[in-house]
Amino acid sequence: MTLSRRAFLAASGAAAAGGAGLLLSGCDSSGGNQPKPSTLEVFSWWTAGGEKDALDSLVNEFHLTHPEIAFDNAAVAGGAGAAAKAELAKRMKEGNPPDTFQAQAGAMLADYVDADQLEDLGFLYESQGWEKVFHPTVLQLIKRNGRYYSVPVDIHHINVLWSNVAVCNRYRADLEPADPAAFIASLKRVRQGNQVTPLAIGLTPDQNWQVKHLMETLLVAHLQADDWAALWRPGNGWEDSRVTDALHDLSQILDLVPAGSAYTWDEACALVAQGKAAYQVMGDWTEAKFTVDFQLQPKRQYHWAATPGTKGLFVFASDCFTLPKGAKHRDATVDWLTECGSQRGQDSFTTVKGAIPPRAKFDADEVTLFDTYSRWSMQEWGKDRVVGSLTHGVVASAAWNSAIDAAITAFVAGQDVAQLQGALAKAAKAHAK
Ligand code: GAL
Repeated sequence: MTLSRRAFLAASGAAAAGGAGLLLSGCDSSGGNQPKPSTLEVFSWWTAGGEKDALDSLVNEFHLTHPEIAFDNAAVAGGAGAAAKAELAKRMKEGNPPDTFQAQAGAMLADYVDADQLEDLGFLYESQGWEKVFHPTVLQLIKRNGRYYSVPVDIHHINVLWSNVAVCNRYRADLEPADPAAFIASLKRVRQGNQVTPLAIGLTPDQNWQVKHLMETLLVAHLQADDWAALWRPGNGWEDSRVTDALHDLSQILDLVPAGSAYTWDEACALVAQGKAAYQVMGDWTEAKFTVDFQLQPKRQYHWAATPGTKGLFVFASDCFTLPKGAKHRDATVDWLTECGSQRGQDSFTTVKGAIPPRAKFDADEVTLFDTYSRWSMQEWGKDRVVGSLTHGVVASAAWNSAIDAAITAFVAGQDVAQLQGALAKAAKAHAK
């Protein structure tokens, strides 16, 4: 039996102790001329669970070749960048950018390019040959006006339903509900038992990105790939009755969740892992909690599947790093970006995070580094129809997302489907281009 990289790290305690890269990659080969010490300020929102371990793993790998560069972790807590994005916008406006920041492929990244805040990274793409090795879907999303402005480090699977096997079996709740109606019926069965939370999710305004995440999976289920993509273009279909159906599903699901639930995504995952909740709808950064923190067995103790009604579709997002104009340590940032784009760097990060590398091909040897879930995700990525995520940056700009966030906050408080649909249509009119 081969051991995935994450299982190896967990068994050896290496990720937590910070020796991850060293254990897998051998020793530092630097010698002779000592490079000049420098610092690198890295801005992200990776502070929780496997996110933080994955960042540590990437930094350790980076330090094997660049021990002279001190890592300044400027991470701002809050899932999906709920707080980080505002803080970053403020710093960019003040002309005080970090050396590099986490961005997301697609419309979110385009915001920074259009504001002329990023350096063109064509020179790195050329010297590293990345156009040939990165996945074409990702390349297309990070290309703007024929140029590349960021380096992708992962691909995340967004439409995933996570569940506790024992809890679902106890309440005859489906592990893989075929559609939203079957999912709602399962949630109701769990609710009737009156012991366990049917769906673990945060509902407070600071967590409403989790509701947006759930909403996007329901919209994708009802609209399927082409009509979902159409929503993000001018003349879109927000008045469509299938949008109404998806929002009614959302309303029914939220009715089954204890009011005022304030869980962060990792707290919600812990509830499922501990058998205090049946399901979580979340991206695959949550998976490390099941396997590393709670040491659960895949498929036997926790389960995953495409969210109801989205089988055959892979809703995705891709995290990237950038070189902001005016970065104080430009050379160190170029070294960091080179690491982020390398197979070694991407493997060290994605194996721990629960994501997959943003590459066109995976080597057979490389696949053995990944755990059961990630191998499944790799297969789905290879055969599913790929569509972009709303909540995680691909299809809509920051301003459009903010308008949607406001509509969702009002919806969580008032549960008015017609009002939500109207607000979503209005946001689309204002922001689609
Ligand atoms: C996403 C991001 C992931 C993960 C998640 C939860 O937006 O792409 O890398 O960090 O938020 O915070």
